[in-house]
Amino acid sequence: YADYGGGPSSAEHMHHGGKSVADLVGPTTGTPDVAVTLTARKQKFTLASGQSVDGFTLNGSSPGPLIEARQGDLVEVTLVNESVPDGATLHWHGIDVPNAEDGVAGVTQDAVPVGGKHVYRFQAEQVGTYWYHSHQVSSEEVRGGLFGTIVISPRGTAAGGREAGARATGAREAGAHEAGAHEVVAAIHTYDGKRTINGRTGSQRVDAPAGTSVRVRVINTDNAIVRTGLVGAPYKVIAVDGREVHGPTPVTAGYALAAGARVDLEVVVPARGALRLDAGSAAVSMAIGPADADVPGEALSSETVDLLSYGTPAPLGLDPAKADRSFEYRIGRRPGFLDGVPGLWWTINGHKFPDVPMFMVAEGDVVRMKISNTSGQAHPMHLHGHHAVVLSRNGVAATGSPWWIDTLEVGDDETYEIAFLADNPGIWMDHCHNLPHASQGLMTHLAYE
Ligand code: C2O
Ligand code: CU
Repeated sequence: YADYGGGPSSAEHMHHGGKSVADLVGPTTGTPDVAVTLTARKQKFTLASGQSVDGFTLNGSSPGPLIEARQGDLVEVTLVNESVPDGATLHWHGIDVPNAEDGVAGVTQDAVPVGGKHVYRFQAEQVGTYWYHSHQVSSEEVRGGLFGTIVISPRGTAAGGREAGARATGAREAGAHEAGAHEVVAAIHTYDGKRTINGRTGSQRVDAPAGTSVRVRVINTDNAIVRTGLVGAPYKVIAVDGREVHGPTPVTAGYALAAGARVDLEVVVPARGALRLDAGSAAVSMAIGPADADVPGEALSSETVDLLSYGTPAPLGLDPAKADRSFEYRIGRRPGFLDGVPGLWWTINGHKFPDVPMFMVAEGDVVRMKISNTSGQAHPMHLHGHHAVVLSRNGVAATGSPWWIDTLEVGDDETYEIAFLADNPGIWMDHCHNLPHASQGLMTHLAYE
């Protein structure tokens, strides 16, 4: 039942320079600041907008509850599997948790069987917009609804922009994905061909008075890129994959949100009219503004924000010119057998999983990776446990804000160079987040020697 099969089965086989095994797991003692139990079920359920779906729920709905934490909080999530036949796990997509908390079946834990449970504990250190999802038979379980959202707010602020005392358990009712007066969480997901925002098809409204500044946290939990963005007023792209953008400027273009990726948009509600957030088309949208305000009818701009040159430079905290390791990650395709049927496999450096050698690093290394793609399709590449900075695309160097990613859309015939600091010992997945592609071989591991 290992999600991706064939992977290394135990973190104990590693040497991990400088750190002890204790660094590979979350804090084992201490009272959690945020404690949530999530019960996973396979069931027929009803979307917030009324349609019925045969899939998976957490605490009875999909998406599962919004988890809200503050920087420094000890987060404890107990996953209970009531009826997911293949077992389930929770992976904290984009949060660089200690390895043992990463929730990858077959690598960092066994899938939680029906009747079992598993406790995840980690310190919330990275402010930003994230999501969690099962990492067991992900291509079915995530698509079927086994996911939710998690927001980490800066230390000292009220979670979600609300009064400090208002936070009860750290988890909100499913469906109430409005993190506070000035924040909106918008998780895009397609159930059985039905595109939704926070489990609602069609258009939905969120009240916000004219003149207020609103932060919209958009999360793409689908397998394909989504063209999103706001219509009705210029907005700023203020964070990407949980990291702040330096020197953002107002745009009226659209935004290409890779599968698994997140973007935070900041906008001021105009004096007249509401704003419209699109999720692939204007038909699936969220209107933000006064309850009775008109929603703009015009289409999202056909231009797209390019993060390679957006914002202004700032220190990276690592020197890509002094790399300790350089890797190539060449994505291709070749004929083979899929479940005994002739088909096409995705390949990495000419090999298909599990025959792909792991990328080996040592703690403290500055690592460069060149990702190229000649496979005929785009791939949203996701590295667990680390954030990488984009250095160049197709040989053109980045000139804007440091563009930190955990999930990067690599189009066909594109080449990206990225760099990251190897500062989180363990064994980490590095795979395509078009999840059927991952089960067709487009995945490997990064491991510490
Ligand atoms: Cu969001 Cu390896 O997954
Ligand atoms: Cu892919």
